[in-house]
Amino acid sequence: MFKDQITPTMSAARAREIAASFDLRALPADFLANPYPVYAVLHETEPIRRMPDGSCFLTRYADLVAVYRDAQTFSSDKHVEFAPKYGADSPLFEHHTTSLVFNDPPLHTRVRKLIMGALTRRAIAEMEPGLVQLVDQLLDRIDAQGGGDLIEDFASAIPVEIIGNLLDVPHGDRGPLRDWSLAILGALEPVVTPEQHALGNRSVTEMLDYLRTLVTERRRQPGDPERDVLTRLIQGDATGDKLSEVELLQNCIFLLNAGHETTTNLIGNGLLALQEHPHAREGLLDSLRAQQGDPAMLENTLTLAVDEFLRFESSNQLGNRRALKPTTVGGVDLPEGALVTLCIGAANRDPAQFDRPEVLDLTRENNRHLAFGFGIHQCAGLSLARLEGRIAIGRFLQRFPGYQLAEPPTRGGRARFRGFLRAAFSIR
Ligand code: HEM
Repeated sequence: MFKDQITPTMSAARAREIAASFDLRALPADFLANPYPVYAVLHETEPIRRMPDGSCFLTRYADLVAVYRDAQTFSSDKHVEFAPKYGADSPLFEHHTTSLVFNDPPLHTRVRKLIMGALTRRAIAEMEPGLVQLVDQLLDRIDAQGGGDLIEDFASAIPVEIIGNLLDVPHGDRGPLRDWSLAILGALEPVVTPEQHALGNRSVTEMLDYLRTLVTERRRQPGDPERDVLTRLIQGDATGDKLSEVELLQNCIFLLNAGHETTTNLIGNGLLALQEHPHAREGLLDSLRAQQGDPAMLENTLTLAVDEFLRFESSNQLGNRRALKPTTVGGVDLPEGALVTLCIGAANRDPAQFDRPEVLDLTRENNRHLAFGFGIHQCAGLSLARLEGRIAIGRFLQRFPGYQLAEPPTRGGRARFRGFLRAAFSIR
């Protein structure tokens, strides 16, 4: 119905024009609305694109995997890049340079071990009943209203509760989490305005103040370390190794943010992709109807669909690494200190890796997409994100098979985190 408005088409000439002068620091609006034709040109013409600031933009699947694999050469530590970006004494600098995702071992390893202990297969399976209940409550409310906003009333309402439960943040305190998260992650965009900068810094400060109180309270009354990540991070591991106060608070902020916008975008992008691809939607609905009495088949069908949404419209489109020594990627020499941007969105459409990459194929097998990254930093929450995507999208679709957008949706307009801000819809 709103085909052109969801993902506008881009002419081949325009895609070539953008690719020829491609610069992450000067992205045109039509690229942000639909970057894929430009990625397709870059795959063919300049898969390792040197940008005006000297960094390299990588679009080939094989090159991304090679960089992810070699964490000894390609560092995730961002002190060098973020000092000029944020100012070395700013709250954003301290936050982003202390979180595990922007660190190398040993800090990365210590924090990751503690987090992973609370994200075991069993712990995640135990979250499913509560998640189903939450999703059904949201669907009941939408049903009573005859529709609503896909993002505000549904997609964004789920991760805030799930990630809030993971750290056992009291329900009444969860209100500001989404805005803090949007502001702090928004400051990772290639270009940040002074207003976004100020908002990001203020959000880190406010979140730190909030978490200090929560941590003091949790120290007084610890939770169950098998499930409560905050208690785990406070208590440290069996060897007695504990995080410093700054490491603890900053990694709590990161966790609350990491599981937030990304998962909102998975759910929103998935439901909007179905709106835009009626054939895929009908196919998925037919399978769900046919498999009604078979939970295992249903789970398998929805898992394949969720992975295809992640490949097709990756919520996190970009990653970054810095070469610690002279090296080579895809036949191109890089000097020590070279900055590389890993374009996940492009690698996930690489024709050398995926058959018919521009087709949304919800039954795609062997879908080894990079939406969760790869290697030592691969997303710690991927099983949780898949569970949220499967339950949210599956139950929404089964409950409202005929949902329709009421007006063109509003995109987030970001290069790194791809998603929508608003998408009004009706259910019949
Ligand atoms: C669809 C949803 C999600 C997507 C697309 C996503 C994507 C990613 C990606 C691409 C990375 C790797 C970054 C890099 O290598 O530079 C990452 C790391 C991470 N993600 Fe996610 N994520 C999602 C949901 C979640 C959730 C729900 C959680 C919370 C439990 C989470 C926690 C983390 C953590 C802790 C890391 C850092 C891992 C490390 O550095 O070792 N993510 N995520």
